[in-house]
Amino acid sequence: MEIINRTQRMRSVCRKVRRDQEKTIGLVPTMGALHEGHLSLVREARRMCDTVVVSIFVNPKQFAPAEDFQTYPRDLTKDTMLLADYNVDYIFAPAVEEIYPKGFSTHVEVEGISDQLEGAARPGHFRGVATVLTILFNIIRPDFAYFGQKDAQQTLVVRKLVRDLAFDTEVVVLPTVREESGLAFSSRNAYLSEDDRRAAAVLYRALAHAESAYGEGERNGRKLAELVRADIEREPAARVEYVSVNDADTLAPLERLDDRPVLVSLAVRFGKTRLIDNILLNRTRTGKTGALTSV
Ligand code: PAJ
Repeated sequence: MEIINRTQRMRSVCRKVRRDQEKTIGLVPTMGALHEGHLSLVREARRMCDTVVVSIFVNPKQFAPAEDFQTYPRDLTKDTMLLADYNVDYIFAPAVEEIYPKGFSTHVEVEGISDQLEGAARPGHFRGVATVLTILFNIIRPDFAYFGQKDAQQTLVVRKLVRDLAFDTEVVVLPTVREESGLAFSSRNAYLSEDDRRAAAVLYRALAHAESAYGEGERNGRKLAELVRADIEREPAARVEYVSVNDADTLAPLERLDDRPVLVSLAVRFGKTRLIDNILLNRTRTGKTGALTSV
């Protein structure tokens, strides 16, 4: 395993892998502070690809000025040890100036799908995500890139980005990995107090409640959202930012649910920590790679 900090080195290593050895490259983009969610992506990349690159880059452009860029958890030593166990070939861990050199002024905006939910709550967030992924895809030119359903809207933004800008990369989306309590793994869980961490298990319980109501025939989108919100509001430590029921592909808000996949998503604060989670209803499995399009 090699740790690469320089764009030029990363670019030339990938060029060699592709040209001389005709090997496939899998990229797992991350911001580090790795956990089981990230590692599930790495495992699948390792299974599918000859060469696996994990990028670790806390991307300043996807954080708003008042957000947690400065305090975001960083532990490259621990991350490196974890990835060595997973037989990763390269870690790409560039400094901010390496990705955004002085005078950087080009940004990528995926219009439409970036506007609602997380995009509305965090203006500029998906512009930052799309911009950094464009740069990473251009440096590495991966055959496959791996993303978690945990960040549902991000997966839609990435799929659209890849389609619209004709990247020669297949996007693979994998299910959300959860702790035993149901709490989705997240680097930001590190901010939670013991009590808040216990309380945060309510998020998945509430989403699972919506799933069972849907299973029992509830097709009113507003009622499903209300049910989730009411469950969460019973937990005193939780402050709901939004609970939303949307078409899982277009993110159009849904009143009446039909046979299409439905995304129930939420953002909730516990103290200063903002957590997001979601569940897909009416899940379908497709794709020749066996990857989940809806989970
Ligand atoms: P980060 O939050 O580090 O997440 C990296 C990848 O891991 C994302 O695709 C995310 O959806 C996935 N992931 C996080 N928690 C997960 C969980 N519990 N189960 C399954 N997958 C999970 O997302 C980002 O970084 C950034 O926006 C990035 C794409 C790297 C661009 O900067």
